[in-house]
This record gives sequence, C-alpha cells and structure tokens, in this order.
Amino acid sequence: MPGMPSDAQSLDEIDFAALYREHMRRHRLVPKPASAWDSRAADYARSQGARGDRSSYVDDFLGRLDLNGVNSVLDIGCGPGTLALPLAQRVAEVTALDHSPRMLEALQSQAAAAGLDNIRALHRAWEDDWDDVPVCDVAIASRSTTVDDLEAALHKMARHTRLRAYFSYPADGFFVAREILDVLGAQHGSVPEVPDLLLVLGMLRRMGVHARLDYILTPSRLAHSTGFDDFVQRLAWSTGPLDDAAKNRLRSWYDANPERAQGGGAPMRWAFIGWDVAAH
Ligand SMILES: C[S@@+](CC[C@H](N)C(=O)[O-])C[C@H]1O[C@@H](n2cnc3c(N)ncnc32)[C@H](O)[C@@H]1O
Repeated sequence: MPGMPSDAQSLDEIDFAALYREHMRRHRLVPKPASAWDSRAADYARSQGARGDRSSYVDDFLGRLDLNGVNSVLDIGCGPGTLALPLAQRVAEVTALDHSPRMLEALQSQAAAAGLDNIRALHRAWEDDWDDVPVCDVAIASRSTTVDDLEAALHKMARHTRLRAYFSYPADGFFVAREILDVLGAQHGSVPEVPDLLLVLGMLRRMGVHARLDYILTPSRLAHSTGFDDFVQRLAWSTGPLDDAAKNRLRSWYDANPERAQGGGAPMRWAFIGWDVAAH
C-alpha cells in the first residue's frame, strides 16, 4: 500500500497523508460537490435552527474553543452559519467560507435577521487559491473536512490562523450507524467508509502538530425523521440511491419499531481536534 513501507521501523516512516488519499481513492469516497450542498442548504439551515441536536453539537463545539485574546475567526465550510452566527456575537470579525453559494445565502439572510454585520461570507473551496483569505486568530472547520487531500487542507488551515485551529472529524468511520448499515446488508459495502481517525492524528503528528483530542456525541442525522420516506431520503445522502431489496429490508426494520427508527441509530461521534499554532 502506498505510504506504508513494509519494513517500516518507526511511525515516522509512515506517510499518513498518502494513506489517507489512498483510502479516499480505494473506497471511492467522493466529496460532495457544491451543487449537492446547494440542494441541502434550505433544509440544513432549518434543521440546524430547530432540531434538538443543534444546540448540543454547537454548544459542545463552541464550549471547547479557547477564544482568549481572539478578535477574528475563520470558519471553513461554514454552511448556513451554524457556528459563524453564534461566534459573531463573541468576536469582532468572522470570515465564513464555503463552496456552496446557497449555504452562503442562507448564512447572509440569517446574519441579517439577527442584526449581525461582522460576518464576511467568502465563496471559496478548500481546494481553491486562498491568497486573499485573511489570516485570523482562530480557524475552525466543523463537519466540513471531507476532502481528497486532508493534509493540504490542514496546512492551509494552519497558515490562516495566528493562534489556534480546531476541526471536527467523524470518529467511527461511517456517517450512518452500524446497526442501520447491517439492515442494508448487501449494500453495506457501497457505503463509503471515512479514513480512520488514526490516519488524521498521524498526519498531524508528521506536520509537527501536538493535537488535543476530544469527542462530541450528537444524535445521528437520521434521528427525528418524519416518516419512512424522509428516513430513506436522508439515508440516501450517505449511501446513494437504495435498491428495492434494501428499501424493503429497511421498511421491515422501520415498521417493526418506528420509535427505535426515529432514534436514527447510535449517536454520531465527532472527534474534536485542536492545536496551538503559535506553539509549534
Ligand atoms: C455538514 S455541513 C457543516 C456546516 C457547518 N460547519 C456545521 O457544522 O453545521 C458541511 C459544509 O461544508 C461545505 N463544504 C464541503 N466541502 C467543501 C469544500 N471542499 N470547500 C468548501 N466548503 C465545503 C459544504 O458546502 C457545507 O456547507
């Protein structure tokens, strides 16, 4: 396997970033294009405002940020402003970057509704040229690091922050709970598995970063579905279209215990990773 010398004597010889890229390629984990996020923007903005997990995830993320001495925050993959909006009430300036124009529109209308004029929305992708992206005191990326080359993204993040960087990363490999993948059965293999968290930690170590690690548990995004069709539609975001056999198995599982199905399976475990930029 590229990146993994068969006679590796020490961890320093393992190219974790190459292993990550190889995983993305081999598992055909294709990051969603901006157009896919565009189509979810309105729903995402609504659900983050209303669903029970909003405050727990957002509060858990915000509560882990050290904002001492911080005037400016760069929020990468900001979506409709889930973090950017509350942060704009705590720091002087927020630059909120996303590749989805509809997400940025949702952010701007929510900022206007809240009377916030200190958020600058920037239409940009992780992969774009960032020459004019400001260097901020703190950079964050919440639930927005599914990219082909995470090492390049993290270097970019580090170059655009003066003090500290923070991001969240799926810690359990999948965006869908295993019990639901088991119900899918034959289609299980087609659900992309996210590169292991250890690759990310190894990558950071090789970047000279001494990362802090914590976890945030949040209800799965399949929780609180309004019915079977909504459940299947949400699941298909992660799995791609489901065939009839899989839908039938899911239908039996759903109908057998709708209350359990509404729970959406085990909570999603996000690794919360942070580091002091000035200290390395
Ligand atoms: C799951 S949402 C997270 C939004 C927000 N940060 C949160 O935690 O609620 C992922 C966001 O990342 C953005 N995103 C995904 N890939 C991106 C890329 N390559 N460049 C910039 N933004 C990206 C999407 O458009 C979407 O708004």
